[in-house]
This record gives sequence, structure tokens and C-alpha cells, in this order.
Amino acid sequence: MTITQENFQFISDLVRRKSAISLAPGKEYLVESRLMHLAREHGVSVDEYVAKKRTSLNLMETELIVEALTTNETSWFRDTQPFSALTQHILPELRKSRKPLGTLKVWSAACSTGQEPYSIAMTLKDYFDSPSFTDPRPSLDIVATDLSQQVLNRSKSGRYSQLEVNRGLPATHLVRHFHREGTEWEISSELRSMVRFQRHNLLDVPPSGGPFDVVFIRNVLIYFDVATKLEVLKKVRSVLRPGGFLILGAAETTVGIDQSWVRVPVGRSSVYQKAESAS
Ligand SMILES: C[S@@+](CC[C@H](N)C(=O)[O-])C[C@H]1O[C@@H](n2cnc3c(N)ncnc32)[C@H](O)[C@@H]1O
Repeated sequence: MTITQENFQFISDLVRRKSAISLAPGKEYLVESRLMHLAREHGVSVDEYVAKKRTSLNLMETELIVEALTTNETSWFRDTQPFSALTQHILPELRKSRKPLGTLKVWSAACSTGQEPYSIAMTLKDYFDSPSFTDPRPSLDIVATDLSQQVLNRSKSGRYSQLEVNRGLPATHLVRHFHREGTEWEISSELRSMVRFQRHNLLDVPPSGGPFDVVFIRNVLIYFDVATKLEVLKKVRSVLRPGGFLILGAAETTVGIDQSWVRVPVGRSSVYQKAESAS
């Protein structure tokens, strides 16, 4: 049985209210496939499951439904450009503007299963461990957040399947930073200790640990409407240090949404600074 418009609207409203994820008409198939496992646990169809939840829904069930509707697609060094922008432009600029760097703070927002913050950790470690880096070594603090507790639990475990490590992780990094645990690969405790995972909804006040030198917020704004994108960008702005950098996903931009950013031309990456800090 396909989901009725009333039940689809109920889920769409609930998910928008709790996460800002927009499920426009036409996404009925997505709701049906993502809620299938919850409906099956109750031995009913998705439509019957939603009809039942419309009359009684507790906090835990709300979270399960919202988490089921998040898209957690990610990979190691996704799009590669942001990571080369980090070493070729962002870190040298930050070093020029602050001597000594002291603590370098990075926020990886909507980090999914951890590939992004751990890719940042590998990039920073390799950069600052290089013999060509002769300044005092900064402390490195990466705050990684997501709305979904399920993906955060996976991130914290630091364990990945062979299939997952095959997606973008160079063999040299696998050898250097991971060890085998049964059929999985576990990331080194040193890299794990560089990342602090916190549950955080981008609709709420920004997480503690700022102000940040760099904020990665990639491949999540695409799920929000324009007003929410603006609201989230304003929150990010409030916790970005003067001279700090914002990194969006390859298909994302501040243009036409929030005029208080300027694009930093570093390759094809989506790197921005607050308008007043750009040179
Ligand atoms: C497609 S993944 C992006 C992962 C990573 N940033 C990347 O680019 O590979 C989107 C993530 O955004 C999270 N998300 C969706 N809505 C959110 C919200 N309102 N607050 C925080 N995280 C959210 C989802 O749980 C999901 O893990």
C-alpha cells in the first residue's frame, strides 16, 4: 500500500520541524523506503505505521523517524579539493595571520560516519608533522557534529569495512593510520584523540569549542530551504574567527543566499571568508 498524502505530509512536517530537511511532494518513495524497516518491526505497512504514529509519537520514535530520513552518504577526502585548499591556501594564510598558531580549531558540521573529520585529522597531522614545518606545533582540535546519534556512534567507533575504506582512502593513509580489527579497519588512537564528536542540530545554537578557524559544512545545506540555509550560515558566521574559512560542498554556494561571504579563489573548491576578513 502506498503512503497517503496526509501521512506523507505528516512525516514531511515532522522532519522539517526537527531537522529542516525538506521533503517536497514527489519524495513519497523516499519516505516509504526509509521507513520500511520501522514499519516491518511493527509488522505493518509504512502507511499503517505512519497512521498509528500520527496519534501517538514519543521522543525516541520521533528521533528514529528523523534519523531514517537523513542521507548519510560520505567518503574519505570527498571531492579532494577542500583538502588541497586546506594545505595549499588555508593553513599558510592562518599561519601568516597568527603567530604562533596556538590551538587550531576546526568544526566538521554534519559529519555523518566520520570520514570527513578523520580526513581533516590526517591532513592536519601530515601537514604539521612535515619536516618543512618548523614553527611551534599548534594543538589540533576538531569538533565533529551530526544530528544523527546512529552515525555518531559509528564515527566514534573509528571502525570501517573494506568497502568503506575503498571509497577515497589512499593506500598510503590506510597503512599509516589504520590497523586491522577482524574484518574491519580501525583508525589510530592518535587520530581518534584529535576529534571530539558531539550530537548537534544545525538549527540549534552552534556547538561549544569555538571560535573556529575553519568550518566544514558540506553536503547538508542542499537539503534545506533558502531561509534555513541563511539561518545556518549566520550561526556559522557567529563562531568563525575573523580571518577564518568556511568550506561548503562542491555543489553548494553562499551566492544568492547570504551576501556576507566572499568566495576565496582556491582551485575549484567552495571556500569562503566573511566579507570583512577577505583581502
Ligand atoms: C550527506 S551527509 C554529509 C556528510 C559529510 N559532510 C560529507 O560531505 O561527506 C549529510 C549529513 O547531514 C546530517 N544532517 C541533516 N540534517 C541535519 C541537521 N539539521 N543538523 C545536523 N546534521 C544534519 C545527516 O545526519 C547526515 O549525516
